[in-house]
Amino acid sequence: MTQPDFLTVSRRGLLIAGAASAAASSLPGDAMAATEPPATPGTVPTARVTIDVNGKAHTLNLDTRTTLLDTLREHLHLTGTKKGCDHGQCGACTVLVDGQRINSCLTLAVMHEGAKVTTIEGLGTPRQLHPMQAAFVKHDGYQCGYCTPGQICSAVGMLDEVRRGVPSHVSADLNTRPVLSADELRERMSGNLCRCGAYSNIAEAITEVAGVAT
Ligand code: FES
Ligand code: FES
Repeated sequence: MTQPDFLTVSRRGLLIAGAASAAASSLPGDAMAATEPPATPGTVPTARVTIDVNGKAHTLNLDTRTTLLDTLREHLHLTGTKKGCDHGQCGACTVLVDGQRINSCLTLAVMHEGAKVTTIEGLGTPRQLHPMQAAFVKHDGYQCGYCTPGQICSAVGMLDEVRRGVPSHVSADLNTRPVLSADELRERMSGNLCRCGAYSNIAEAITEVAGVAT
């Protein structure tokens, strides 16, 4: 049986029309006039972004929805940074951005124009390991190694936070510089999960570096 025209509109078409009319009805008249015409369905919004990664500037034309993690792994082929959960829950994707540790799966690359990003590949080299990398090797702070790049970047950022006096949830006194006790270490590294359960060796490695660096 032939259907009348109004019944042949696709579900996707209906959703787009509905979303467009809802957005339009919530805008005041002036704002509507200033609004850019909607992008043609199917076109990808892109932006040019320059990020310094491990001391080298990279200019990329990216889909604006690209996470920093995917930028590192898929566009720059720096696969040392791992994708575990992709939801900010495991810490495998931890990198340093302008010295601060962040979950790179939770942030868009376009938010970091001009930033300095350090990944595990930029911390040290196989011939000259960063002290935290050397300590992880010495204390066997891994089994499968999947969480290790994130653990190491996070530990480096964490020690810097302690040095700068940033308190944690378990710091008893917010007015004094925190000391990296076992409780502080556990709390501050709690965003980095290890499914192999190498926690005691990880803690030993970090404690050794902290003893030198803090
Ligand atoms: Fe980013 Fe798990 S992959 S927190
Ligand atoms: Fe395997 Fe941590 S060493 S997940």
